[in-house]
Amino acid sequence: MNLILFGPPGAGKGTQAKRLVEQRGMVQLSTGDMLRAAIASGSELGQKVKGVLDRGDLVTDEIVIALIEDRLAEAEAVGGAIFDGFPRTVAQAQALDSMLAKRGQKIDSVLRLKVDEPALIERITKRYAEQGRSDDNPETFVNRLDRYNADTAPLLPYYREQGKLSEVDGMGTVEAVASSIDAALSVVA
Ligand code: AP5
Repeated sequence: MNLILFGPPGAGKGTQAKRLVEQRGMVQLSTGDMLRAAIASGSELGQKVKGVLDRGDLVTDEIVIALIEDRLAEAEAVGGAIFDGFPRTVAQAQALDSMLAKRGQKIDSVLRLKVDEPALIERITKRYAEQGRSDDNPETFVNRLDRYNADTAPLLPYYREQGKLSEVDGMGTVEAVASSIDAALSVVA
């Protein structure tokens, strides 16, 4: 099964992806984690994208599509991927569909974690205070939210028209959200 966890910054995509990996043995493909790893390693890619992440802008489609393409075989070997933070543009979604189709696969479900803006701000403010993730500072976070609304939210009709979109209440505790995700997936499986 191939799933997309969809939602704004701070919606809980990474948190829920990790739980699904433990439960279902799937691979989490987080483009944010891949880009942060590249930055931490000081690689050429990391140097190229550091400023983009620091500003809260989107990295080019070309870069993130290539990162995902490199990991699809790994996901196939364990029976599925949880896409976390990818796709973020219609071009990325179309590229993902075509990369999967070449492998005789498809996206089975897109789970949209719905969390209101005050709750997102509260979560990110807390994480910034506790962990200091550099793009969680207030100015950058506002830009990340703007990018989500301008570039990523327009993907919702793309998946809704394909009948793949499920809305999940992301406002409760981590456990409550996990239960809602399991309920949504029980219909897909
Ligand atoms: P990325 O790492 O994908 O960041 P994001 O989407 O902004 O996501 P976050 O990690 O902030 O939020 P999340 O939804 O995963 O929530 P989490 O579980 O962490 O991307 C970073 C940057 O990389 C982008 O800005 C862009 O520059 C670049 N990038 C990445 N992918 C790209 C792409 N495809 N195209 C172009 N550029 C790309 O939770 C957040 C916090 O809330 C945590 O502290 C968590 O403990 C807490 N929390 C989680 N669930 C709950 C809950 N139910 N109740 C209370 N607290 C909760």
